[in-house]
This record gives sequence, structure tokens and C-alpha cells, in this order.
Amino acid sequence: MSAAISSRNFWYTGLMTQPGSLARNERGELCLGGVPLRNLAETYGTPTYVYDVDAMVREARALREAFGEHPHAIAYAVKANSAGPIVRALHAEGCGADVVSGGELRLALRCGVSPDDIVMSGVGKTDDEIDFALTRGTHGILAVQAESREELARIAARAHALGRVGRVSLRVNPGLDDIDTHAHIQTGHDEAKFGIAKDEVLDCVRELPPSLELQGLGGHVGSQFTTTGDYLRAAAVLFELARGASALRPLRFVDTGGGFGIDYGSGCPASPADFVRETLALLRSSGLGALALHVEPGRSLVGAHGVVLAKVIQQKRVAHRSWLMIDAGMNDLVRPALYQARHRIVPLTLTEGLGAKASVRVVGPVCESSDDFGTHELPLSPPPDAVAILDAGAYGYTMASEYNGRGLAAEVFLQGGAVVAHKARPSADAWAEERAAVGR
Ligand code: LLP
Repeated sequence: MSAAISSRNFWYTGLMTQPGSLARNERGELCLGGVPLRNLAETYGTPTYVYDVDAMVREARALREAFGEHPHAIAYAVKANSAGPIVRALHAEGCGADVVSGGELRLALRCGVSPDDIVMSGVGKTDDEIDFALTRGTHGILAVQAESREELARIAARAHALGRVGRVSLRVNPGLDDIDTHAHIQTGHDEAKFGIAKDEVLDCVRELPPSLELQGLGGHVGSQFTTTGDYLRAAAVLFELARGASALRPLRFVDTGGGFGIDYGSGCPASPADFVRETLALLRSSGLGALALHVEPGRSLVGAHGVVLAKVIQQKRVAHRSWLMIDAGMNDLVRPALYQARHRIVPLTLTEGLGAKASVRVVGPVCESSDDFGTHELPLSPPPDAVAILDAGAYGYTMASEYNGRGLAAEVFLQGGAVVAHKARPSADAWAEERAAVGR
């Protein structure tokens, strides 16, 4: 068997074990949601994000089923991927929205999410954002989640000035120091800027001004948890406080946040449904079985079901290292540069003509050393002409920039095995004209 064919088998089986709908067809073409990605790269150019919206909806359904009959809400964290087709499809599957800015709040409303299903977090809400949230619908949004005592007082003052009763929840910082995820995405320790210190929460409940109505207590202690341990430790602190709070005022829900991890290639033993089932069990054993449980997942709904398509621009060899320059960079997908995150990279098509697999450093075209997607095993001499960067559905496009004069990537949305929507990448001319026109 030739090296090329054994490589092909390796990647074929590797991909077929993926939970999503990523697979190769008999021509060796990588397909997402049944659509060959090569065709999309040709039609829409590169770099292009492609999303399997049906698979995202299936994630939401599986999560909903994990709640059984227990009253619950799934507030999709729009920051993970704020594209209209995705927010609308998840809303149609019963998800509300977790938003962190006036922009995200307006987006959720425009996608049809009811104010009653929207919670607003965010450590730095402006008065305008608070006013807008408090005045949507009849009672304002489901909850403006206060991140500090001081902010709670400001929300109360805004509600009073508007002649409204503001619906609020309190974001609890449980003060857990040894949470097992990347330091940049931990949010529940004493050094984090997020939330109200756990020792102050019950005072806030006791002293709640009359212009506010407490809905619940919430917490979000980090992202990309691959096991349930730390999530449950944080939930235990939250539930203890919820017991105390509900002795003082009626509570409608507890919200244990997002954070359910996905498998970026090194495993993720706990599924989102495991997180929900174990959290529900803890809720019941804490004597709070009558309270609704809310969660705010982002990544786990969308992350595994998006890829970035990129063309190979140049293969280069310096000393003993092989490099593969692709036309997607850190401006398109910043996670590797920002968190040393690893995203698998695979050829778009496995053909007989490809060289044997070798270790190669895959890098983008941006003028920064951190524009580096890491070392991958890929065919070389010749290399593939195009690749897919996997698991890019969450925190990909939403964190992209135009650095180095690179317009934001195209986006393609798949449903029912077909393209249902797309957003083009601006041409270099269009990008240059827009910047040059400033102040002209
Ligand atoms: N709720 C709140 C209040 C949050 O701050 C976040 C995420 C979520 C929910 C959703 O968390 P998820 O289920 O997606 O883990 N850019 C980083 C992740 C930052 C997460 C920020 N907050 C990354 O690319 O890994």
C-alpha cells in the first residue's frame, strides 16, 4: 500500500469517529452536512467559515432532552457565534439567548428571541444598555444579571428613573482558585473581574431596592470544561447561596452558566447532557428541586459544527523545518494565538497524488509570529492545495479582525444538505476603499 493511501485511510477513519457530520465521500472529499467542502471553497473563495446548522440544532435538542421534565431554559451564549441563521435556528429549537452587549441584545431580538428568554451578563454594562434591556417587552428582559453591588445599585436607579421594576439576577463569583481550564477563560476565582463575591450575595438579596425584582442567581466560572468536577463545585456554591436567598425572597431560577467543553482532538469525556444531568441531581439533593435550572452554553452547541476553509499558498523549508502557509490567519481564527488552542487541520481532498504524511508547521499570512496553527501531520511534496481547520464554529468569526488589511472571512450556512445563506468576504478593493474613505 502506498504512503498516500495509508494516509488517506488514517484521516478517513479519524474523521468518521467525529460526533458531528464531518465525513469523506468516496472521492476523498471532506464533506460537512453532506456537502463537499471543495465545491464551497471554489464558489465562495477562501478563507471561508462553513457551518452545519442542522448539527447545531441537534446539539440543542440533545441538551433539552437531558432536562427531562424539569423546568429549564437554555440561553444560547450568542458571543460564541452570532450569525443570524444560527441564532434563528437555535431559537426555533427552543433556545433563548445570553447576551453581553447592546449589540448582542438587539441581535437576539431581531432573530425573534422574546425578551422573556434573554439574560444579559457583562461586567461593564452602560446606562444605555441597561435602559434598553429594562424597557424591552412588558417587563424588560428575563434578567439583567448584576455583576457587582455597585452595578446592582445603578440598575435600580435606572429602573426607578424609567418608572419600571427591573428584573435582575445576581452573578455569583464562587471564588474557586484551582479551576481546570486555560487561565484566560477562567471567570470564577477571586482575581477575576466577574461577579459578586459569594460573601456579599445574601446582603444584596436582603437589601434589594424596591425598583428591582430578583429572578435568580447565576454563575459562569469558565469555558471548555471537559469533565464535570469544577462545574459542579461552582454549582454547589451557587445552590448553597440559592437556599439562603430563597429564604429571603422568592427565586425563579438558578443559572449555572455555560462552559461545557467539546473535543478538539484530545478528548472530552463529559457530554453537555452529562453536565445537565449531574447538575440537576445536585440541585435536587440540595433541596432546590422546585427551582428551574437555566444554562448558558455557547461553544458546545456550535463549536464542533463549523470549519474554516483555507487554500495552501506556499510550502517552504527552512533548515529542518517544513512550513505550510495557508490563506487563513490569526485574524480569521485567533484561538491558537490567544490561548495556544489546537485545532485539527486536514486536507480538503485526499487524492492519490498527495505526498506522504510529514510533520509540518501550519501558519497564516499575518505579520505576527503568533499567527501559527501549530504542527500537524499532513501530506507534503506535494501538499494538499486546500485544508479545513476543524472545530471552528465557536469563538471563530466572532473574534475575527481585519488586521493586515484582510477583510472578514466569508461564511456559508448549510441546512438540509444545501447552502441556505452566505455572507461574502469583501474584496481587497472594497476593504481598501472603505478604509480610505474615512474622513475623505
Ligand atoms: N455565559 C457567560 C456569562 C459567559 O461569559 C460565557 C462565555 C458563556 C456563558 C458561554 O460559555 P461556553 O459555553 O461557550 O463555554 N473565547 C474563548 C471562550 C470565552 C468564553 C467567554 N464567556 C475561547 O475561544 O475559548
